[in-house]
Amino acid sequence: MIRVESLNKVFGPNPDQALALLAEGRSKDEILAETGHVIGVQDVSFTLKPGEFFVIMGLSGSGKSTLLRAINRLIEPTSGHVWLTTDDGEVDVASADARQLRHLRQDHLAMVFQRFGLLPHRSVRDNVAYGLEIKGVPRAERMKRAEEVIEMVGLGGWAASPPSALSGGMQQRVGLARAIATGAKVLLMDEPFSALDPLIKMQMQDEMIRLQRQLGRTVLFITHDLDEALRLGDRIAIMDDGRFVQVGTPETIVTNPKTAYVADFVAHADPTNVITAATVAVGPDHDRIDEVGREDGARVIVHRTQADVEIVVGADGRVLEVRADGGRADLVPIDELLEEETPRSRHRDRAAIVRGDRTLRTLLEARNRVNLPLLVVGEDEKLLGLVTERELIHGITEKRGPNGGTTDGGAKADGGAKEVAA
Ligand SMILES: Nc1ncnc2c1ncn2[C@@H]1O[C@H](COP(=O)(O)OP(=O)(O)OP(=O)(O)O)[C@@H](O)[C@H]1O
Ligand SMILES: [Mg+2]
Repeated sequence: MIRVESLNKVFGPNPDQALALLAEGRSKDEILAETGHVIGVQDVSFTLKPGEFFVIMGLSGSGKSTLLRAINRLIEPTSGHVWLTTDDGEVDVASADARQLRHLRQDHLAMVFQRFGLLPHRSVRDNVAYGLEIKGVPRAERMKRAEEVIEMVGLGGWAASPPSALSGGMQQRVGLARAIATGAKVLLMDEPFSALDPLIKMQMQDEMIRLQRQLGRTVLFITHDLDEALRLGDRIAIMDDGRFVQVGTPETIVTNPKTAYVADFVAHADPTNVITAATVAVGPDHDRIDEVGREDGARVIVHRTQADVEIVVGADGRVLEVRADGGRADLVPIDELLEEETPRSRHRDRAAIVRGDRTLRTLLEARNRVNLPLLVVGEDEKLLGLVTERELIHGITEKRGPNGGTTDGGAKADGGAKEVAA
């Protein structure tokens, strides 16, 4: 769909000289000091799958905007390719001529800017229809399409208003609508929500998630807000000095930052929506778990912090029963518990079953409703491990350093359950 290959951007009169120094292993700062050239983007390669939401993060000056602009040629790349899948096969945006480029921008690459970039003297409707107008779509058709998209982004009733009559969040909805209306398959978004108040920003993120589900566009989204990246991204790329230093899913970035730079970002993120049950659960080989085999082939598993609770696992790996206080607890799927309007809080006569891909936040909510270890299972219903207060707290507070270093001997805690889940 879109494939970026070895993209470089150097600012300055003799970029090849700067690239040669880069190849010799010189840093961005050294090259700037010696030659006055600024490395904007260095050797970035990645492929976006259709419908993927890909987030680029990094500190100010790390090259995020330069990369996005080099992709749609608002800035000329120094070298490299941007392959775009079109009806005519793969086209390299980086070497397209002016006419091709116009078409590519109209049909494939739509941009949403941080400061909205609306035309002040045009109505909301005419702003949204702008891309279609440039494409030569007949007036009646583009007005109809604009109305549809205006409705879609929640601005019904505002079509005739000028942008100045709208709040910041509403103006950004217009910016988004304009990009969506073009029908472009790839949306390029440069910090579209960062000028908005925190609450409005959250609303726009929800809106973005909803629209993405509905439309399935491929999105390349820049932000310097990690929580935003974690909420929205299928994958996240972390940029430093013009390079991608790590690319991964939100959970990988949070639980396994590769460098100190990434770890610094992650240190302040809220991990509860990202980390999964399979990651925090402790399996039979963990030292918080005791396991005894039974004659019939079943195993009895006990979590040391709740040693009076026995979990009986059948030979097929599934939980047979949970015994507490001399009785048998009911086994209840977590969603059933969470749907209860008046939670019976923290009883010991039922145990919750949770799939390994559910988040820590879900576990916390469940833990508020049952007082037995949470039973984390894989897709095949086999027990991956247990989660008690201990694992929840560990999951939230664990300091995650580069290369998976932890402060609580947690590496082992992760190992067992995660592998079974994969
Ligand atoms: N026109 C230009 N001429 C020279 N250097 C530039 C130019 N535009 C950007 N740069 C440099 O390229 C590097 C990357 O800048 P860029 O704007 O892409 O960063 P960014 O990650 O988008 O930062 P921010 O979060 O502040 O928007 C910086 O070192 C910047 O100084
Ligand atoms: Mg920028």
